[in-house]
Amino acid sequence: MLARTSLAASFRPTAAITPVVLDFLAPSTLQQSRRLYHLTTTDHSTAPSSSSPPSPTNRHDARKPRYALTAKQREFLDSALRVNQAGELAATLIYTAQTPQVVRSHPHLRPLMKHMYDQEVGHFNTFNQLIAKHRVRPTAMYPVWYAAATFLGWSTGVLGREAAMACTEAVETEIGSHYNDQVREILSWKAEAERRGEELDPELEEMLANFRRIRDEELEHLDHAVENDAKEAKPYDPLVNFIRYGCKAAIKISEKV
Ligand SMILES: [Fe+2]
Ligand SMILES: [Fe+2]
Repeated sequence: MLARTSLAASFRPTAAITPVVLDFLAPSTLQQSRRLYHLTTTDHSTAPSSSSPPSPTNRHDARKPRYALTAKQREFLDSALRVNQAGELAATLIYTAQTPQVVRSHPHLRPLMKHMYDQEVGHFNTFNQLIAKHRVRPTAMYPVWYAAATFLGWSTGVLGREAAMACTEAVETEIGSHYNDQVREILSWKAEAERRGEELDPELEEMLANFRRIRDEELEHLDHAVENDAKEAKPYDPLVNFIRYGCKAAIKISEKV
């Protein structure tokens, strides 16, 4: 069900440009990356375009030097990808446990629950691909988050539709602002690169676009939850605060562990 298929195509252009896997997150490949970058631009000029449409990985400005990430920035991305993958795993598990109970008493919510679940599976696939590609260690807390997310989904489903929606509201409030922080950070690197007359690695640009798209989809889930009476959950405040606190703690732990 969670197979990595849907977004695989979006990562193929790099492999088509050069047979060598370059990784802006791996310090040992940075020098090599800079050398091969010139080879890549030569290839572009001699093999134009008709057969390959522009993609985020081959559209870069050939005259600009590449912005090299510092160790601290690579560490930030490493943590971000680890947390995001864990969070998306949790999201798929919450909906898996919630949906049967919610749609049993409210069948009209089946399409909405499926829509949100399908988007979470897409997010999870994206981060599975990214952590594999950049050789990021998944969180060691994986089994704990698996059990906790399943329990959270099941228990809020038992409490009823409003509690299930309050759970989505709480989770997406935290996750939406978490993705926003990541987007803001990468945009600050982009601004710095532009000040220096450099450009971000096209793969980092693509990652930024993915973070923005996923953030927007999480905020869409938040809106759906509020439209479906999340605020009618009883007791609303303790439930939402408990879940938000749990999300914050899980994010902090997964950044490191
Ligand atoms: Fe998600
Ligand atoms: Fe979501």
